[in-house]
Amino acid sequence: MSQGVVIIGVQWGDEGKGKIVDYYASDADVVCRFQGGNNAGHTLVVHGKQTILHLIPSGILHPHTKCLIGSGVVVDAEVFLEEINILKGLGIERLEDRIYLSDRCHLIMDYHRRLDEAREEKKAGKIGTTKRGIGPAYEDRVARRGLRIADLYNPEQFNEKLKANLDEKNFLLKELYHVEALQTQHYQQKYHEIAQNIRPFVRDVSSCLNGLIEDDKKILYEGAQGVLLDVDYGTYPYVTSSHTLPSQSALGLGARLPDQTLFIGVMKAYSTRVGEGPFVTELKDALGNRLRETGAEFGATTGRPRRCGWLDLVAVKYALQVSGIKNLAITKADVLSGLDTLKVCVAYDCGGQRVDTIPADTARLWKAKPVYETLSGWKEDLKPIQKSQDIPRALQEYVQFIEKFTGARVNLVSTGADRENVIDIHKAF
Ligand code: GDP
Ligand code: IMO
Ligand code: MG
Repeated sequence: MSQGVVIIGVQWGDEGKGKIVDYYASDADVVCRFQGGNNAGHTLVVHGKQTILHLIPSGILHPHTKCLIGSGVVVDAEVFLEEINILKGLGIERLEDRIYLSDRCHLIMDYHRRLDEAREEKKAGKIGTTKRGIGPAYEDRVARRGLRIADLYNPEQFNEKLKANLDEKNFLLKELYHVEALQTQHYQQKYHEIAQNIRPFVRDVSSCLNGLIEDDKKILYEGAQGVLLDVDYGTYPYVTSSHTLPSQSALGLGARLPDQTLFIGVMKAYSTRVGEGPFVTELKDALGNRLRETGAEFGATTGRPRRCGWLDLVAVKYALQVSGIKNLAITKADVLSGLDTLKVCVAYDCGGQRVDTIPADTARLWKAKPVYETLSGWKEDLKPIQKSQDIPRALQEYVQFIEKFTGARVNLVSTGADRENVIDIHKAF
């Protein structure tokens, strides 16, 4: 029987998915990305050494894994090649045999980045994107004018489509956004070189993955962003431009899920968010600063300070409902060590009305006030703890509160950034 584990962030991203994927990857044969692009920043720490990955799956540090990038991912080929060079520099070998890049992936082009930047520079309607061109690339995909990796190997067609896109985008850049247009001459040569350099990695990922599932390989799926940034179910319009839910894992790879597949939601023990958008439990005071400093809450992609706040269980419960996730991995419990009491948000007060889910009308969410319950804190250093029976009582009660409120089971508690800092309560594979 084939087995799979799908790892999904259940807040606004940066929950520690990279760390959890790296941890589970020791038991997996294959690790797959299925949506998003290099807006993701996934941090792995192994024996104190940090690696940040944006596109390549977080299983790559385990020499036995195959790492697949499915058609649901938008690929900035230059970033992909930079990441390959970084990994080669770390002494990781046989990358061409281990990394499979789908020929159906859409390319993020220079004009996508430029449009993303130009829109963000305008004051009105700012989303606070990562400016990596993600939104414009997904727009072109659904508008059916995108360039895909397969197009790189049909130069005549590629050049024709490129020209049409450059004409359109340069018009927008110049006439609408009043910024410099792109010089078009060198693009054909640039993409000719890119095509040659990425060629060893390009594969029919759908067919490869279906074969691996038929062979009963253990498949780990690595979500990027989080449920509350999903284009439909997140806090729209302050979301990313892809689906971040576990159902996207089959779609974004073109393969059925394994016979037995567990969805695990990764949840930080408190809340953070980067970019604009409503954040009901945000702390703009000394406590928020304390969480940012202790938790090193600065973006792994853009370096922006993350907004910090108490755990919003209304948001998490909603995220579990829309995604069908019933198991959780809680990260960064160590960051809360030393606080006398902890607050968790159990409802919203929307103009005097008690609300227990995320309203579709984001304007209402902006005005919502948190309704808190207060729980006891813990003082212990959690890092040395490996067994669930050694978890301090107050943390046990925190975990039990989360389980009771959400109806989900907590499989794992992470107690530090390093691969080893894990209390694995229920095995995933
Ligand atoms: P991702 O995007 O979900 O993979 O998360 P990021 O890598 O962007 O951000 C998570 C940050 O928290 C990284 O700096 C991790 O090294 C770090 N981290 C992950 N788990 C833990 C944990 O349990 N405790 C602490 N202190 N740091 C953690
Ligand atoms: P990982 O995978 C946190 C946020 C941006 C912005 C919004 C839209 O590391 O958890 P985009 O560039 O996608 O168009 O930006 O989504 N965002 C993330 N926030 N972690 C991420 O990825 C994010 N990827 C995008 O800050 O608010
Ligand atoms: Mg991140």
